[in-house]
Amino acid sequence: MIVLKSEAEIAMMRESGRRVGRILTELREMIKPGVETRELDRYAEKRTLELGAIPAFKGYNGYPASLCISINEEIVHGIPSSRRLKEGDLVSLDFGVIYGGFYGDAAITVPVGEVSEEARRLMEVAEKSFYRGLEQLKEGNHLSDISAAIQAEVEKAGFSVIRDFVGHGIGRELHEGPQIPNFGQPGHGPKLKKGMTLAIEPMIAAGHYEVVILSDDWTAVTRDGSLAAHFEHSVALTESGVEILTADDKDWRP
Ligand code: MF3
Ligand code: CO
Repeated sequence: MIVLKSEAEIAMMRESGRRVGRILTELREMIKPGVETRELDRYAEKRTLELGAIPAFKGYNGYPASLCISINEEIVHGIPSSRRLKEGDLVSLDFGVIYGGFYGDAAITVPVGEVSEEARRLMEVAEKSFYRGLEQLKEGNHLSDISAAIQAEVEKAGFSVIRDFVGHGIGRELHEGPQIPNFGQPGHGPKLKKGMTLAIEPMIAAGHYEVVILSDDWTAVTRDGSLAAHFEHSVALTESGVEILTADDKDWRP
């Protein structure tokens, strides 16, 4: 079900989203060779509580941590562990909180030191495709205009779009309707309306889009072992246009 939000509800979602944005900025600065992924998870959880919020992912369908950390061929839902980051790794951080009853959800992909040319390009294309999708978020457009714009940008670069995971509506639930695939023909699905709050999240691979789930029942990897990248923001279509709710607002002091 698609739940349209009032301007007051969107204001609350902004409070939630800012916390996600700030914590992801701080985590990005911690990314370096030798860091254990569980240290990042502990930090994310501690900061969430300091900022008066609740980790959104911990316990969600039994997920065991506050942060998802997916490295190299891992696409999404990598579980933090004693694994240490190493030079050349490509790391996706996917993070969400609940604040004032509303969810915020965002993801970034970050290089560990120097990464390959392919890794750098993949990371950039994931982000760029998000913004291409976001350009389509306007009243009167159809939902799949977002999907098609993302797919076009990714495939133009010679990469592929993951099919098995999609973006989603977000609000009082982490996953609300509609589902937002990162592929498809334009002109389909619901019309975009003021009050829609969406988590748009391209997940892309350097090789084929086929996915395998590891025996931990969470970690999704590319079947061909090719590199993957993920970029996500929670966004809103408001009276004044498009707003990125999970941006890190530099002027915001908790
Ligand atoms: N961004 C992911 C999503 O929208 C986060 C869910 S991870 C889970 O599905 F651990 F909470 F499942
Ligand atoms: Co999401």
